[in-house]
Amino acid sequence: MNNELVLVIDFGGQYNQLIARRVREHNIYCEVISYKTPVAEIKAKNPKGIIFTGGPNSVYLDTSPRMPKEIFEIGVPILGICYGVHFLVYGLDGVIGKANENSAAEFGRTDCIFDTDCPIFEGLREKSVVWMSHNDYIEKLPEGFTAAGHSDKCPYAAIANNEKKFYGVQFHPEVNHTEQGKEILGNFLYKVCGCKGDWTMENYAKTAIAQIREKVGKGKVLLALSGGVDSSVACALLSKAVGDQLTCVFVDHGFMRKNEGDEVEAAFKDWNVNFIRVDASDRFIGKLEGVSDPETKRKTIGEEFIRVFEEEAKKIGKVDYLVQGTIYPDVIESGLGDAAVIKSHHNVGGLPDCVDFKEIIEPLRLLFKDEVRKLGTELGLADYLVWRQPFPGPGLAIRIIGEITREKLRILQDADYIFREEIANAGLDRSINQYFAVLTNMRSVGVMGDGRTYDYTLALRGVTTTDFMTADFARIPYEVLEKASVRIVNEVKNINRVVYDITSKPPATIEWE
Ligand code: XMP
Repeated sequence: MNNELVLVIDFGGQYNQLIARRVREHNIYCEVISYKTPVAEIKAKNPKGIIFTGGPNSVYLDTSPRMPKEIFEIGVPILGICYGVHFLVYGLDGVIGKANENSAAEFGRTDCIFDTDCPIFEGLREKSVVWMSHNDYIEKLPEGFTAAGHSDKCPYAAIANNEKKFYGVQFHPEVNHTEQGKEILGNFLYKVCGCKGDWTMENYAKTAIAQIREKVGKGKVLLALSGGVDSSVACALLSKAVGDQLTCVFVDHGFMRKNEGDEVEAAFKDWNVNFIRVDASDRFIGKLEGVSDPETKRKTIGEEFIRVFEEEAKKIGKVDYLVQGTIYPDVIESGLGDAAVIKSHHNVGGLPDCVDFKEIIEPLRLLFKDEVRKLGTELGLADYLVWRQPFPGPGLAIRIIGEITREKLRILQDADYIFREEIANAGLDRSINQYFAVLTNMRSVGVMGDGRTYDYTLALRGVTTTDFMTADFARIPYEVLEKASVRIVNEVKNINRVVYDITSKPPATIEWE
């Protein structure tokens, strides 16, 4: 990859990924790296610019994240944001004061006046709203710096050293609440760093295809295809790159949504790709007989998935490369410490131990989710695959509470299908990030015709979220819920009651098991 590169140096702020996304939205490739990365390594990457992120610390504490002074000597433009500007000032021998001693702290919407002669504010309105979040403040500028913006409380809301091309802002240009944030970042990237903007999905696809061809040569490539966005896009990319050297194995565990197995198969029939659909539903249902504990279900499915995949891989013979759909947030987030295990996630990413191969190819590891989608569209993948909502590896097995039977599976598939159809009919399918039905293990009394019923309760779930780590329940209009509910009790046998889940995450999770 020989794109122009901007480095975001991570000082522990909450918006670091967002900064990287904002840079990429300007068509410039960007990586997030730790402040602990040696300066020589940073220099060797030959970045066009560097951005120091915010962070929760005070720069003058011994324990705070700092970099060696050499970072200021490699001749690359720097933009410091919040903690990043404090570090810039501190590192160049200016002074950072504690805000609570003279009440210079600012949080939230703040009016700011910019010096529009400063390159990062060129062409902007002089006064606009910015988003502040700081206790400490810049008390004394380092040599060579001047003020480039101020607010009521903050004389140095922005600072500049044009000669060295070092800039800093006390506020967060990356958040939407900062009115001209996009333009400020754009000015830094294009006017100060001299970027041209060569990061487009068209370029990415071309380069990735060339690189994969070079790496793979005449070798065989195996991909575990789930039909989810990431593995589908990886498949499209690999098939363009190496054609019939690629084999995709789609393990159909039988817990897909209604018609989904057939849809995935149909979608990949048109591609120049060896596609194997393994119908393993009997095998999976058999293994889950009598199992009602959620974690046991998850582990049993994950384990069996690996066994089936392993058997198929053996049939194909010696495989040189295995493809994984790792995406950029997984790369950044890995190794951040031990989070508590809430659920044992199963997805096709957990395969490498079981197959004898030479190397793993991760063609999406540089991309954010929205970029993966753009790439999918660029490669000509069908819209419904590109825009599929996330679907858990264990599928509907963890949306049937308690023991799974074929009958319950049928009920859930039919009900879930209706709910999804009604959401799409209402035009809500892209604004609600995930929506599905759950078959509870509870039955209750109802009346249908003139007779008593004693049937299952179905729960509907819809959430809005950006990262799926936290989520809010979706405010689906009552009319849409009503339509779905009426259709479900009328069209799906054995459901006589429908409820809507109005809990957010936390304290609930998105899935019920
Ligand atoms: P929870 O239920 O933990 O789900 O709030 C967060 C997101 O992850 C999806 N999910 C999974 N994805 N394998 C996956 O690939 C899994 O085992 C799994 N379990 C949950 C869930 O659908 C939601 O988008």
